[in-house]
Amino acid sequence: MGVRGRGRVIGDVTGRGWRRALVTGGAGFVGSHLCARLLDDGTDVVCLDNLSTGTRSNVLELDRRRRFRFVRGDVTDEDVVHGLPGPFDLVLHFACPASPADYLRLPLETLDVGSSGTRNALERARRDGARFLLASTSEVYGDPLEHPQTESYWGNVNPVGPRSVYDESKRFSEALVTAHRSVHGTDAAIVRIFNTYGPRMRTGDGRAVPTFIAQALDGTPLTVAGDGSQTRSLTYVDDTVDGVLALAASAETGPVNIGGGEEITMLELARRVVELTGSRSRIRFVERPVDDPERRRPDTRLAAERLGWRPRVGWSEGLESTIGWFTARAVAA
Ligand SMILES: NC(=O)c1ccc[n+]([C@@H]2O[C@H](COP(=O)([O-])OP(=O)(O)OC[C@H]3O[C@@H](n4cnc5c(N)ncnc54)[C@H](O)[C@@H]3O)[C@@H](O)[C@H]2O)c1
Repeated sequence: MGVRGRGRVIGDVTGRGWRRALVTGGAGFVGSHLCARLLDDGTDVVCLDNLSTGTRSNVLELDRRRRFRFVRGDVTDEDVVHGLPGPFDLVLHFACPASPADYLRLPLETLDVGSSGTRNALERARRDGARFLLASTSEVYGDPLEHPQTESYWGNVNPVGPRSVYDESKRFSEALVTAHRSVHGTDAAIVRIFNTYGPRMRTGDGRAVPTFIAQALDGTPLTVAGDGSQTRSLTYVDDTVDGVLALAASAETGPVNIGGGEEITMLELARRVVELTGSRSRIRFVERPVDDPERRRPDTRLAAERLGWRPRVGWSEGLESTIGWFTARAVAA
């Protein structure tokens, strides 16, 4: 079944049909996959990134593509955003430190990118008459008291806890998008992404998948927080990209959850990584971070009904291809 959006009928859950897209944070993990997919679909892509947590190497191979342009700059700088070569018909606002290690290191920058960065990206979308998409997060639900999390759940966030810089930055961004839509009529939508993993994650970013894989490949103990019974619903990056572009191509405003259906414990994840890598690593239990959510599973009925989106890659399959990428990189290094 095709997805109908803004006059475009699309054969699959991809975002074909855009002329020129701005991807803020395009040199990051998810952003780089989005840039590649948009280019494959024939869209010109401008990637704006300050490389605070992303790397130039994530998009180096895209440099060979005529339709791709990398701009090193900060989305919180209004002049930079308004000086980008447009006009754009799609703005994907993905710039923001996303791993706890990064946003705890960059707390004020994280708040800035969610506030003035989002404002600038929204203003640019309005100026160009572009469709705008905010990359929000399951973290807006905090440590949820409702399970699984539907989009109508308001969340359980500690506003002064260490994670608040990220959670509240995204919650503020969502409020900005909503206000911009009602004040200016900006064609803006919100996607709430759940834990995504895949090739091009950084091993040092503290997220469970790259950390466990790196530890297993090094033969060092896999450090599982607490007793490892806390759950996450992992989403392979290709599925996330499909969901994001399906929302972009629709007329929906969201928020829409995009996340994996299978809820697994962190201990299960660690054990499967050991199994798939054939590693001799053991598991070591370490202290649990403050305010670490206990359970995380999206209700994705809205994405299924409105966008025809469902995750297609099972977590073992996705893990295998992610491990393949990390292994090839370790061999090449
Ligand atoms: N990966 C996930 O599981 C996940 C889950 C929910 C939401 N998200 C959201 O998706 C987006 C991308 O996440 P990711 O995992 O790819 O993280 P990432 O850290 O790999 O990518 C973020 C990118 O934004 C760039 N950036 C940060 N601040 C910037 C600024 N002020 N100006 C320009 N560029 C800036 C970084 O250099 C980096 O390239 C983030 O907005 C994140 O909140 C990700």
